[in-house]
Amino acid sequence: MGLLILLTSTLLYSYFHPGRVVDAQRLFILKDITLTIEPSKDVKRGTNVSLRCKATVSQSETWELRREYTVYKDNNLIYNKTSISEEILYPLGEARVANSGKYRCEINIDDKPQRPSETQKLTVTGLSKPQLRLNKGVVKEGEEITATCIAPGEMGSFFFYIYEDSNEIKEKQVSSNQAEFKLRFSSVNRRRIHCTYTVLITPYSVKSEESNNVTVSVKELPITIDLDIDPVTRVYEGDQLNILCKVNGLQHSDESVRLLLIQGIQILSSGLTNVSHSMVAQANYAEEFECKFEMGNVVKTATKTISVIELFSAPTLTVSPDEVFQRDDVTLTCKSESYASERLSEDELTYTLDPPQTPQTPSRKGVFSVKSLRIETNYTCVAEAMRIKKRSKTLTVRPKIFVSTPKISVVGRAILGQPVKILCQSDIGSLPINYTLFKDFVEVSTISINRSSQQAHFEVNITSPEDIKQYICEASNNHRHNKQPLSEKLNAIVIVPPSYAELMAVPDESGIYEGDDLYLLCRADGTPPVTFKWYHVGNNLPLYTNTSNDYSSSYQVPSVSKEHNGRYYCEAFNHVNKVVRSEEVTIEVQMVLWKKALIGGFCLLAVSVLVVVCVLCFRSKRVVMDSGAAVSVWTKRPPEEDVAIDEESSMVTKEPDVEYTEVVHPRPVDPARVPLRKGTDTVYSELQNSPHGPADYHDYHGSVEYAELNGEQPEVNHYHPEVNNFQDLPMPVD
Ligand SMILES: *[C@@H]1O[C@H](CO)[C@@H](O)[C@H](O)[C@H]1NC(C)=O
Ligand SMILES: *[C@@H]1O[C@H](CO)[C@@H](O)[C@H](O)[C@H]1NC(C)=O
Repeated sequence: MGLLILLTSTLLYSYFHPGRVVDAQRLFILKDITLTIEPSKDVKRGTNVSLRCKATVSQSETWELRREYTVYKDNNLIYNKTSISEEILYPLGEARVANSGKYRCEINIDDKPQRPSETQKLTVTGLSKPQLRLNKGVVKEGEEITATCIAPGEMGSFFFYIYEDSNEIKEKQVSSNQAEFKLRFSSVNRRRIHCTYTVLITPYSVKSEESNNVTVSVKELPITIDLDIDPVTRVYEGDQLNILCKVNGLQHSDESVRLLLIQGIQILSSGLTNVSHSMVAQANYAEEFECKFEMGNVVKTATKTISVIELFSAPTLTVSPDEVFQRDDVTLTCKSESYASERLSEDELTYTLDPPQTPQTPSRKGVFSVKSLRIETNYTCVAEAMRIKKRSKTLTVRPKIFVSTPKISVVGRAILGQPVKILCQSDIGSLPINYTLFKDFVEVSTISINRSSQQAHFEVNITSPEDIKQYICEASNNHRHNKQPLSEKLNAIVIVPPSYAELMAVPDESGIYEGDDLYLLCRADGTPPVTFKWYHVGNNLPLYTNTSNDYSSSYQVPSVSKEHNGRYYCEAFNHVNKVVRSEEVTIEVQMVLWKKALIGGFCLLAVSVLVVVCVLCFRSKRVVMDSGAAVSVWTKRPPEEDVAIDEESSMVTKEPDVEYTEVVHPRPVDPARVPLRKGTDTVYSELQNSPHGPADYHDYHGSVEYAELNGEQPEVNHYHPEVNNFQDLPMPVD
């Protein structure tokens, strides 16, 4: 970099000095540049301050370098000098606050800019005391004077301020060290004036001390205002008032003038130097009159207050009676409470009603009667005397409507043992309405209804269902009638919860047989409708639910069988939702009589067969011994017979119940059941035949007994499971 500068300098030098011999050795470099503020960076006003800028340059040979110095204050160029010396001195002279700021110096060597010096900050303290001058010391009201405020020896940018008795009244921004102000004073007084200034230095301003005080005397203008009001005492409402306002001693002036007559906030009249006004005195207006004269910014006023005596007061309108019902006759009275008897006799006062009504009697002034008032009406009245009219405030007469006969009812359901809500309500009637509940003509309580959204709800406790009929209620919205409308007696059903439930089986538990229709009768008390539910113990879902208007209900189980065995109970409840449960009833379905008999018969048969078998056994042993051919009786059976018997026995075992019922109650042929039926028939035919013995078997060895054995065998097998099944049920005791 340094090399580049050297090279460039050399080249440029040879360019600007073409006459010279280019010498590659003539090089320079800026070693250092400094700015110093002398004598110090912080000085008092008036100190001779200089800025010294020094640049140290190294060069290869001794020759004159052209140096151009530049000094900046707050980035603005303030001084520029070309010199061949190593340093320059720039005198600021006697320092002022405005010299405060940041200074910097720069140098161009042989027209080549070099790096600048570091910035130095100069702070000058102390401002000169301002001087105030006025062109006049004594002025008249509104007269203009010139005030000049000077900041001696200061420079820079200024703000000047003028104060009247320490209150700032004006300000001005200027760039010279003095400012002129035009002042006017509108009120008579002596006042002290002074000024101050501030000098702006970036980024703030410095405030001077206060100037000398100058006293200004303001003298009154020789002007007076006269305000005359006639009459001024004992003014009555309706009197004519003449008002005159006048300006005295006014000399010719350049200023514009104006005269105003004002009452309260109302301007009654205006002019230049004379104003007159006439009016009728009224009691309800402001009583202060003001006459105001303006000249430039000089204002002069005169005021006067009169009191206006009221001739008569505004009337008031009243109604009697206080409580008015539709079609009542009412009296309206219009009256002024007071009047000025010294000016007015009572006879002079007249009253009229709006809307108009005939006076009740001519002798009673201001009393009006209204016949059979029907609708809400707004009335006002006017009192008049000596052409003065006064109106009353509006009176709204709103005739009330008598309350109608109330209706008494129960809200929701009346349930014994729970609080019962009773509503008493009239369809029409003006509010407020008082509802009173009576029990057996003894007052229970009263509810006052003030809003149409409210209802009279009474809460009572009922101890027996008949209690409810003792309640009646009364509605009342007026005090003028002794007899208030009374409701009927409260007619409502009191719901009594069931206290018990009872379950009964028909036929009774001891005599229920297979195939019977069973009726489970549930009975309960409580107010109908009652809901009954029947349950089979072990099953949480009810078998049947029925709501009845009676105290009992029944559930039919048609054609019972053993699967209906078990314990049953029922439940009952009504609107109260209190559930009562019956005792449990046990149902045992018994076998029909003929089946018992049949079983008995088979048992006998089995025993007799056993006996026969034993006898045969005994005999056959002997035959074997005799013949030597040991042929078993059992093996002699034809194989088909075995198959048939097996089939039968298995089928029968599978469907034992069906067989019994089918035998007892023949039904239309079910095609699906045909094979079973066949088997059953076979069984029975064999059963029936067996005692006699089939003729076919005669061919067999062992004759009748043998055949019987074959025939009996399946039957015995067949009935064993059945007997076992029945052992599950308790056998009826015969
Ligand atoms: C400042 O310098 C001026 C001129 O050189 C001289 O007249 C003046 O007295 C000096 N002021 C002070 C305070 O030295
Ligand atoms: C009576 O005056 C009131 C208030 O000024 C108004 O709201 C109402 O409607 C008037 N009633 C009748 C019946 O004119």
